[in-house]
Amino acid sequence: MYLGLAVSAQLNDSDWLTARFSPRLPSPIPAAYNLPFLIRGPVKRIKAVYPGSFDPPTNGHLDLIERGSKIFDELVVAILRNLEKDPLFSVAERRNMLEAMTSGFDNVSVETFDGLTVEYAITVGASVVLRGIRAISDYEYELQMALMNRKLQPSLETVFMMPAEQYSYLSSRLVREVAQLGGNIDCLVPELVAQKVREKMDPALKFANVEQAEGKSPERKASKRKTRSRKKRS
Ligand SMILES: Nc1ncnc2c1ncn2[C@@H]1O[C@H](COP(=O)(O)OP(=O)(O)OP(=O)(O)O)[C@@H](O)[C@H]1O
Ligand SMILES: [Mg+2]
Repeated sequence: MYLGLAVSAQLNDSDWLTARFSPRLPSPIPAAYNLPFLIRGPVKRIKAVYPGSFDPPTNGHLDLIERGSKIFDELVVAILRNLEKDPLFSVAERRNMLEAMTSGFDNVSVETFDGLTVEYAITVGASVVLRGIRAISDYEYELQMALMNRKLQPSLETVFMMPAEQYSYLSSRLVREVAQLGGNIDCLVPELVAQKVREKMDPALKFANVEQAEGKSPERKASKRKTRSRKKRS
């Protein structure tokens, strides 16, 4: 401002106007008054909650998480506890899988909750509930839920997102059913989830994997047996 006045003092009336409003010369109007936030208001950070059972998490869930992470400042993937009496995965297992799947997103976290989604959302300071819509069948149920949630908590907005086309038929229930019948689930869930589902279906696989990780492969076992029998003979 001081510099602006000094410049204008050396100019005549019309030059002063040019100097005052020309973007090339220092403006006598303090820069702070030109900041866009004075026009738009302070930038608001939007936190969203994405609730579900995620039993197991699928590529459809991941697609929605990725879309949500791009439009919200913060996204909490919230696993509902006690939804089903006999889930395939425990809440802790689902949380581990989701944490691994979302480790590449800076603004995504994974939590668990029980009770009303709206109460949980308010508790964590969220203003949006994110939900996915796959087909018309989802729409009816989701609309009912969204309207009930609005009745319970008018300040919360439900935002619906659609997944990429190839995931529009995908659900956790289908993944469970396909896996239980021995079908291939590789393109339906991330690799780490596919591995966990296979272990659930065939617990022997889990032990095989643990042993492999510990270096107890069948070949190593066989060579150990040979060494033991050689020792006995000598
Ligand atoms: N493939 C998908 N595309 C888009 N949204 C999805 C997809 N799968 C699940 N969602 C959405 O994610 C949210 C949480 O879903 P949820 O955990 O119940 O998964 P689900 O696949 O519906 O599981 P289940 O078959 O056990 O009901 C819901 O809003 C659901 O509509
Ligand atoms: Mg569902």
